[in-house]
Amino acid sequence: MSGRFITLEGGEGAGKSSNLTWLAERLREAGVPVTVTREPGGTELAERIRAVLLDPGAETMADGTELLLVFAARAQHLEALIRPALERGDWVLCDRFMDATWAYQGAGRGFDPSAIAALESMVLRGLSPDRTLLFDVPVAQGMARAGKRSRPDRIEREAHAFFERVRQCYLERAAAEPERFRVIDAGAGLEAVRAELDTHLQEMLRWR
Ligand SMILES: Nc1ncnc2c1ncn2[C@@H]1O[C@H](COP(=O)(O)OP(=O)(O)O)[C@@H](O)[C@H]1O
Ligand SMILES: [Mg+2]
Repeated sequence: MSGRFITLEGGEGAGKSSNLTWLAERLREAGVPVTVTREPGGTELAERIRAVLLDPGAETMADGTELLLVFAARAQHLEALIRPALERGDWVLCDRFMDATWAYQGAGRGFDPSAIAALESMVLRGLSPDRTLLFDVPVAQGMARAGKRSRPDRIEREAHAFFERVRQCYLERAAAEPERFRVIDAGAGLEAVRAELDTHLQEMLRWR
């Protein structure tokens, strides 16, 4: 594989989506072939699974259903989009990936880590992001930003404590893998966030 795999992680309203667009533009300006995608989703079939995952329907979704749907979408996304893009040499920018499963289904829901690890090994087959940008923002601040969105989805309806566990899990993972992670203080203003992101961008451009 000749491409690079870059994931953006963080809680609701941290600024992943807005900064992903900015980062993709900067990389393209530098002549890097970029594929932008997101999880859950990224392909037509995986986006259909995403819709099921996020729909606050009448029937309560069992935790096991949620976990398996997340991995079902990821398996499709990896085979149909991510691996082919990396093989052609693209830099893949992905809005959330495997760390989100550890944070949301693992720490958030309290799902058995050995089950997550087994699925991770089966579906990822050793693939790991080259760089993960963690947008870290205090929960209440992120929620206030995201709260401006029209209608909360099934996950966004969770309680504050759920998102605190998500945040702590992300920070622990970043501390455990400092080579892969870069933690961005996403509670700062957009200009400061962009400046921090730019230093990480320059570092990644030196990979070429
Ligand atoms: N550093 C920032 N300061 C103030 N507002 C921000 C900042 N970053 C993002 N926002 C705003 O917060 C909202 C959520 O950002 P978004 O990129 O959608 O977050 P995410 O994708 O992580 O949920 C958007 O309206 C965005 O414009
Ligand atoms: Mg987003």
